[in-house]
Amino acid sequence: MHDPGIYALIQLMPTVLRPPSWALWAAATALDDLADQPDAKQTERAARVEAWTHALQRDLAAGASTDPVRHALVDTSLRWHLDLSSLQGAMTSTLDDVRGRHLTDWAAWRSWCNEGIAPWVDQVLHLFERAGVPMTLRLDRQQDYRRFIDGAQLTDTLTDLSADLAQGLLLLPQEALQTYPRAEEDLRQRRWSPATAALIRELTALAREWLTRPAMTTGMHPGAATVLDTAASLMRAQLDAVDAAGPTLLKHAPHPSLIARARVLAPARLRSSLAWSLTPLALPGPRRPSVTASDPSLAADDTAFRPPPAHPSGAVPPQIAAEQMPFHVAIIMDGNGRWAQQHGLPRPQGHRAGTAAVHEMVYGALEIGLRHLTLYAFSTENWKRDAEEITTILEAIRRDLDAGPLRDLDVRQRWSGHPDKLPQELVQALMREERRTRTRTGLTLTVCINYGGREEITRTAAALAQAAQAGDIDPHLIGEDDFTRHMPQPDMPNVDLLWRTGNEQRTSNFLPWHATYAELHFTPDYWPDVDRRDLWHALTTYCRRSRRYGNAARVPGPPGS
Ligand code: FPP
Repeated sequence: MHDPGIYALIQLMPTVLRPPSWALWAAATALDDLADQPDAKQTERAARVEAWTHALQRDLAAGASTDPVRHALVDTSLRWHLDLSSLQGAMTSTLDDVRGRHLTDWAAWRSWCNEGIAPWVDQVLHLFERAGVPMTLRLDRQQDYRRFIDGAQLTDTLTDLSADLAQGLLLLPQEALQTYPRAEEDLRQRRWSPATAALIRELTALAREWLTRPAMTTGMHPGAATVLDTAASLMRAQLDAVDAAGPTLLKHAPHPSLIARARVLAPARLRSSLAWSLTPLALPGPRRPSVTASDPSLAADDTAFRPPPAHPSGAVPPQIAAEQMPFHVAIIMDGNGRWAQQHGLPRPQGHRAGTAAVHEMVYGALEIGLRHLTLYAFSTENWKRDAEEITTILEAIRRDLDAGPLRDLDVRQRWSGHPDKLPQELVQALMREERRTRTRTGLTLTVCINYGGREEITRTAAALAQAAQAGDIDPHLIGEDDFTRHMPQPDMPNVDLLWRTGNEQRTSNFLPWHATYAELHFTPDYWPDVDRRDLWHALTTYCRRSRRYGNAARVPGPPGS
């Protein structure tokens, strides 16, 4: 936000693209600021960058953040269906920058640019694409695009030379420095000399050439082309300022004059406002199920996801009015062991068979447009079972995650439970799928593994106690919302319908906080025998219930109530 050039550039974008662009820019700048803090030691700066990056991962999985910059980024990724996983590489690269870089030649320098900047630029390209004006980069122009990014990075490095040198950084390749003997030594000593002057002149010329890529925007939407062309012109004006700075380049960052900037921006503003006024832009679709029972055509723009396979019988979901649909269904998948016994099989076979029923529930939930489905796969009490059975259940889950039968569906996968005692490979697979699917907006599938309701409540109470001890919350004012905010899954909605198969009528330590007002549904079939039609039946049964929440008359529950 310190850079007026960026401000001007974002103003050239169509109005709908400005907030998401700001969110991306703010995140990139926040990270950069943490990496560059002049008053902090190197190890401290590295720790701050690392903590910010981890916090972002957590926030993306949770879909919200308490930090405004991260929240804007998380919200943008959800609203614009952006997959931010590619930014991970850019963040790791920033961390490596803090730890110190040694760039031997231009090839090493280029791959540094590519990992650090390209993922951010790609996100802006995705935004344009989502808005219906793809900045189509033809394959034969990829080279231009890469050069353009190199040019941007070199301009930035030359502009920030004084600040970097103050931190002992010289982010130029040895190959370039060696062309002018003594230039490196002089720069590090912050001495302006004929060698440094010649080096800077050569580098600005190189950056100017890299930034001048007229073919890159040929055939592009005129508004999008204006943004890119103007970015190039502003950077060339910046390079003029670097050239004109002379010895002061080693003291502070140079900037182009207001007149030089206005000469670029005034015609660009005219061109872009004309171009965008002629183009209707698409906002990304609202967050909704990929397929709804009442209007399957609503799934039209989610073409990247495949629809769930149809039930072999050809059964289709019943029509349920939106206001009657439960928002969150939770299932205790009981009866695997007895199913196996009934079929003369060892108990572990029952759990393997139960995995197919899990897929069926997901297909059924997608087809009918359910928003949240939570499954009880392994409780904290299940550790009391035979070691072989425990291994089979946990292995069945991991194998299923690796096989990925749900991967191409519009399903956001999450897990709830304590990682302690769980096999490392399983935890890794769960985290991987959470990351991979976090921007999906169809069904949220939460699998509870090593989950215990009382353990969850105890953990939350401990988190609240800590917050109170730290003075972040007044214990006298703690309300239910504060409790929810401190839960391990703060955005888990309340359960509307809790269904248990296997002919048992208990809730067995499953979601006690969230299910206090849930309608209960108990069915006799063993879990491996149920399919999506049983889910649909449970939903129609639910529609006939009268939910009163302590009132005398039926109260329509808000989503997630
Ligand atoms: C309860 O039946 C079931 C379990 C403890 C395990 C459930 C796990 C799965 C179905 C695998 C989940 C897979 C994925 C992909 C999420 P039980 O063994 O208590 O049956 P019983 O009461 O008949 O003994």
